[in-house]
Parts: sequence; C-alpha cells; structure tokens
Amino acid sequence: MCYNQNMKSIATQNGIYELLNSKIAVEVFDNIDSTNLYAKECVKSGRKEEFLVVAREQSCGRGRFERKFYSPKDCGVYFSLVIEPTCTEELGLLTPMCGVAVVNGIKKTLDKDTKIKWVNDIFYDDKKCTGILCEAIASGGMISRVVLGIGINLYEKDGGADEEIKDIISFVGDRSADLANRLIASIVNEIYALHNGFDKNAIVSEYKRHSFLIGKDIEVCVLDEETRLARVLDIDENCNLVVRYQEGRVERLNSADTRIVPTA
Ligand code: BTN
Repeated sequence: MCYNQNMKSIATQNGIYELLNSKIAVEVFDNIDSTNLYAKECVKSGRKEEFLVVAREQSCGRGRFERKFYSPKDCGVYFSLVIEPTCTEELGLLTPMCGVAVVNGIKKTLDKDTKIKWVNDIFYDDKKCTGILCEAIASGGMISRVVLGIGINLYEKDGGADEEIKDIISFVGDRSADLANRLIASIVNEIYALHNGFDKNAIVSEYKRHSFLIGKDIEVCVLDEETRLARVLDIDENCNLVVRYQEGRVERLNSADTRIVPTA
C-alpha cells in the first residue's frame, strides 16, 4: 500500500496490475505533462500493445475544447487506457462507455452514487468530480487505437482548489486502504467488460439511467455560436442530447457545450 504524508492514496504499478482482469502493461509516472499525450506519442511511435498509463500529477492535463484539466499531485487519479476498438459502432460510443464504467467503478469502490452530465463529465454532489477525454489515433486511413483518458478528483489540495474552479468541482475520495489502485483497476475492468461484450443498446440505456441532465434547463453553446436556453428532453439511441429550445424547436445535439441553469 502507498500513501503520501497526508495519507492520500497513491497509485502503484504492481498494485494496479494485480487487480486487473486483463493483464495489460501498466506504467505509473510521478509527474507527466498529460497521460493522453504520452499514450498518443507511444502509439504513433509504433507501440502495438494495449496499455495503461497513470500519473500522480499532470502539468498539462487536457480536457475537451482544449481546456485545462486540474490535476494536482496525489489529489486524484489521472490515467489513459489504450485499446483497439472492436467495431465502428464502438467508436461513436467511447465516451458514454467510459462514463458508465466510471459510475460503476465509483459505486463498487466507494459506494457513492454519481451522475453523468452529457457528454463527458461525471457529477457528484451536483458538481464535477470526473472528466473523460477519448481520442482516436488513425493510421492508413483507419482508426487503429483509441486513448481513453479519465481524471477523477479524490481529495482537495492543501490550501483549497484553485479560485476559478473551487465552486464547481467535487471530490469522491475517502481514506480507505489502497483506494487509488482499487478505483483505477475497477474502472479499467468495467471498460474491458463493456468493450469485450460490446452492446450498444445496453451502454446507451445505462448511460441514460445515470443521466444528470434529463429534465433540466440548460444553456447550450454549439460551435462558438450564441448561448441559447433549452430544456433537456431525452438522450436518444445514439447518445445525442435531445433538447427543446425556448421557441419550441426540438434538436438532437451530437456535440455542444452545456451549462445547467441554476434554479431560482
Ligand atoms: C474534460 O474535463 O473535458 C476531460 C478531462 C479529461 C482528463 C483526463 S486526466 C487523464 C487524461 N490526460 C489528460 O490530459 N486528460 C485526460
């Protein structure tokens, strides 16, 4: 077992490996720019195997829309899993697949209920505790590998979180033994279970069951256009967000930035 002086659980290579159902290579870095960037570089330079890369800290953790992902030392688990996609259908559902795996992994490891905020955030206590960034790597016109990047906030940084995010993030960690290794392995095992027995309808239905947004009023921003108010009606069979705008028009969104409108 491994802890730092503040008793924050730390991931270790052997600790994770022993708990994995699929015995893939595991690398753990004390510090790295971004586990997704590293994983992509490995694949581009010819690494063929599936593997997992974990960092105690990221100096350049990245999220969707090139946003920064807050990754201070030993305050969370930050990792990227590289796998070979099974089919084209799976490529369109990687983020939902990871979302379901994270919700299940947190429930099994920490007994906490979390919700999925379409499309790639996991919420605990009505705030973001997890971000997911899935990236595809093409070679010869085909997608050969995908990088599934997941960052989970476990513990608050000493002195508190940075000003610009302190009110919008939450932490799911507790002081149970070996938490970082157990949580990472559990989520990777969940991903492999969904990946190996890929079932689109089962993933979408679980994704929808854990949705944080259905029924909520949100602000929608598509491709830097003006922000518009909408009510979330549903998540459809392809994981699109079905919204009704104020003037009554219904649209299925495949990609957008969304923000929940606070209730008065
Ligand atoms: C988001 O919030 O938009 C997604 C954040 C994804 C963060 C994870 S942490 C591990 C991996 N490495 C990165 O640089 N990003 C992902």
